[in-house]
Amino acid sequence: MSTYYITTPIYYVNDLPHIGHIYTTMVTDTVARYQRMRGRDVYFLTGTDEHGQNIERVAESKGIKPLALADRVVERYHQLWSRLGMTHDDFIRTSEERHEAGVHEIIRLMEKNGDFYLGRHEGWYCPRCEIFYTEKELLDGNLCPIHKTPCEWKVEENVFFRLSKYQDRLLKLYDEHPEFVRPASRLNEVRSFVEAGLRDMSVSRTTVSWAVPFAGFEGHTVYVWLDALTNYISALGFGGEETKPFHHYWATEDPVVHFIGKDILRFHAVFWPAFLMSAGLPLPKTVWAHGWWLLDGKKVSKSAGGVVRPDYLIERFGGDPLRYFLLRDMVFGQDASFSDEAFIERYNGDLANDLGNTTSRLVTLCRRAFDGHLPPIAGVGVDSQTDLAQTAAEVVTEYHEHMEAFAFQEALRSLYRLLQETNQYLVRNEPWKKMKDPDATEEVSKVLWSCLEALRIVTTALLPVLPQRAPQVLQSIGAPVPAKFGESLSWGGLPTGGALQEVKPLFPRIDKDAWIAEARAEAGAKTEEHSVSESEPTQSAAGQESPAADSPAKLAEPTAEERIGIEQFFETQLRVARVVDAEKVPKSSKLMQLTVDVGEENHRTVVAGIAKAYDADDLVGKLVVVVANLKPAKLMGIESNGMVLAATEDGQPVLLHPERDVPPGTQVR
Ligand code: MSP
Repeated sequence: MSTYYITTPIYYVNDLPHIGHIYTTMVTDTVARYQRMRGRDVYFLTGTDEHGQNIERVAESKGIKPLALADRVVERYHQLWSRLGMTHDDFIRTSEERHEAGVHEIIRLMEKNGDFYLGRHEGWYCPRCEIFYTEKELLDGNLCPIHKTPCEWKVEENVFFRLSKYQDRLLKLYDEHPEFVRPASRLNEVRSFVEAGLRDMSVSRTTVSWAVPFAGFEGHTVYVWLDALTNYISALGFGGEETKPFHHYWATEDPVVHFIGKDILRFHAVFWPAFLMSAGLPLPKTVWAHGWWLLDGKKVSKSAGGVVRPDYLIERFGGDPLRYFLLRDMVFGQDASFSDEAFIERYNGDLANDLGNTTSRLVTLCRRAFDGHLPPIAGVGVDSQTDLAQTAAEVVTEYHEHMEAFAFQEALRSLYRLLQETNQYLVRNEPWKKMKDPDATEEVSKVLWSCLEALRIVTTALLPVLPQRAPQVLQSIGAPVPAKFGESLSWGGLPTGGALQEVKPLFPRIDKDAWIAEARAEAGAKTEEHSVSESEPTQSAAGQESPAADSPAKLAEPTAEERIGIEQFFETQLRVARVVDAEKVPKSSKLMQLTVDVGEENHRTVVAGIAKAYDADDLVGKLVVVVANLKPAKLMGIESNGMVLAATEDGQPVLLHPERDVPPGTQVR
């Protein structure tokens, strides 16, 4: 049986998981599930990257040990991955002994090859990337090209790795195995970088103690990327006593795939193969760099701000709709924008409507026509315009091609073509018109069976993408839930005549406006969280325990770029207002409709996301501060004319009041 080893990057423990981490892991899980269903011997690895100066600094600022910080964040990863049904075979932590053994072994082999020497290292260093940049790569003001924060000039005596020695071998690798870096545009990027000339790189530190000691170089610890990259083999027992998995999954001709984000391409496509060449070890087969999820045009990340913590989406919908959206709305390899609107449109369109409604419609028709049973006679799905069985066969071929090429969007598109044809076939054949005619039983049965059979094939193919919901859809149409594809994607697998179970709707339609209003209120409650500095990794979503909540969050001083002029501040009109009336917005758990006196002739309506924290009655008569010159916005059908200011503590709003009574309308500045 062929093997298939697939990995995610290991995630830093200075941040809680966000949509970017979830994305990579969901994609990897989908491929792992798909390949297992194809019958391959899959090994899926994920884990955490726990060493380094960044983690050390953060832990220090909390007054806790780095390992304690890591333990807390790791716990959150475990909880989330289990909730989302991730099927990783292993979770490696770089603080584990088995990993350290792997790092020592790779260093021993590299050293044996004469690839280390001691040298003086000076240059511009980004403490967040933990990497030196050349002057050319820096942005104006010596800012890091990734984080846009200042780099430090650092001088150290380090162990150097003879990276330059591997330049030609790397170029040969890219030429002979273009599949080593995917997509092709990324290969070009990597090739140009290497062609421009590789300098030897420093692979030890003398100032970082939360790291693996560098054997043979007293006082040096291993550079965090050499440490981290080795996880892909240390998890397989490399450097330990039990090396069987390493030989089985790594040292093989079968696929070995690293899924990564494009931000860490150079480490995986240049440094990692060079380390392995130096150690005389086999290389992975493919490094696949996907794009970024963007929010307001910026990468979703802690450091760039705009953190999307998906807890709310998952709490509300479960993991599958999010997974479906992430796979369907991003061309794997390119960037894509995340928005609540896009999510809900995809959910309502593809899941509630196309998949959900088709299922309930067919089940309802069977109930009526065959007394709650599957159609008694199987069909071939052919009418004057469609050969459903033929379309299904084509679609399944396309689906496999796309899934093997990681073109998830295309794979899903193909499946939906079959779903659409099924609906058209149903509408054309109008079985509901013939249900009462006993002579038409065979025809009605064949039409309904054919539609259900096509739906079964689509849903079976969706099992890796909707691992929690697709089995329920299959059960609801009396179809088997296979562990392996086998013959299950061929026409003819649906039984005839079995009893159908009672099912509740699997993808209830969501009112878009109400959802957006709720999501905004949720986002509002988290504004504070977004402004927390990179060095403060522990802010969490509303109501959740922060993994390092021992001390209050420290905010970063705004950078020169972030500062605004006083005139810009004065563009915002802040005024004191008195709450005249307050009422919870029906059907919303968070929104409160306030009538406020802002010193104008008429009172205003302002909708605020404070209903979880305040009772309406307690608010009446209170003085608050509002932004008076905001453009009106509709929240759950109510026009809001302003915004009430609140601090956010633990995700809960805390209203701001003037320190003594002042007349409504008084300016705040
Ligand atoms: N620890 C390193 C990786 C070491 S691998 C040997 C690291 N960790 S990370 O926590 O910053 O997360 C890295 C990965 O998260 C990215 O490479 C990418 O896979 C994913 N993403 C983080 N933000 C992302 C988006 N906004 N969009 C998509 N994925 C991104 O780097």
